[in-house]
Amino acid sequence: MKERIEVMISEDAIAKRLEELADEIYRDFGGEQVELVCALKGAVVTLVELAKCMKMPVSMNFMSVSSYGNATESSGKIDVKMDLDEDIAGKNVLIVEDIIDSGRTLSRLRELLLSRNPKTLKICTLLDKPERRVTQVPVDYVGFTIPDAFVVGYGLDYAQRYRNLNYVGVLHFDEDETD
Ligand code: IMP
Ligand code: MG
Repeated sequence: MKERIEVMISEDAIAKRLEELADEIYRDFGGEQVELVCALKGAVVTLVELAKCMKMPVSMNFMSVSSYGNATESSGKIDVKMDLDEDIAGKNVLIVEDIIDSGRTLSRLRELLLSRNPKTLKICTLLDKPERRVTQVPVDYVGFTIPDAFVVGYGLDYAQRYRNLNYVGVLHFDEDETD
C-alpha cells in the first residue's frame, strides 16, 4: 500500500483562520493573560502558530494524554502521562487542540482542569470532526469543521509521521501499481 496525501486545508487558509480566532479570543478575554494548555503531541503546531497571532500575554503549557497509538481508530482509553508544571487556579485557561474526534480525550482533560479551579476554561481546536463525536464537550473556538476522514499534517500524525506538513491533508492508502 502506498500512502498518498490530498491537500484539504492549505497553509494560507490555516494562517488566516488562526489570525481570526486569535482576535476573537483576545476580545473574549478582554486582553487579559491566557494560559495556553496543549495536549502533546498533535496540538503543538497549532498552539505555537495560534500563540504567535495573540496580542495579549500568553504562557505555553504542555500535558501528555494518550491518544491513537499507531492505528487510525481510538482505543477509547485515556491516560494522563505527563501533567502541567504550573498551577492554573484563578487563571484564564485555553485548551488548544489539534482535532476533536470522539471527544473522549478532551472531555477527560476538561474535567481534570476544571477540578483545579481556573478562573475560566475555554477550548480551541484547529479541526472538528462532529460526525465522530461519542462524548459531548463544549468547544468555544473551531478552526475548521471537517468530514469524517483521517487527516495528517499541521501536528497530526500517522504512526508519528507527517506532523511537519504545513497544511492539513487526507491520508489515502492506494494499491501499489503492478502494471
Ligand atoms: P478523540 O479522543 O477521539 O477526540 O481523539 C483525539 C485525538 O485523536 C487527537 O488529539 C489526535 O491525536 C487523534 N486523532 C483523531 N482524529 C485524527 C485524524 O484524523 N488524524 C490524526 N489523528 C487523529
Ligand atoms: Mg490531540
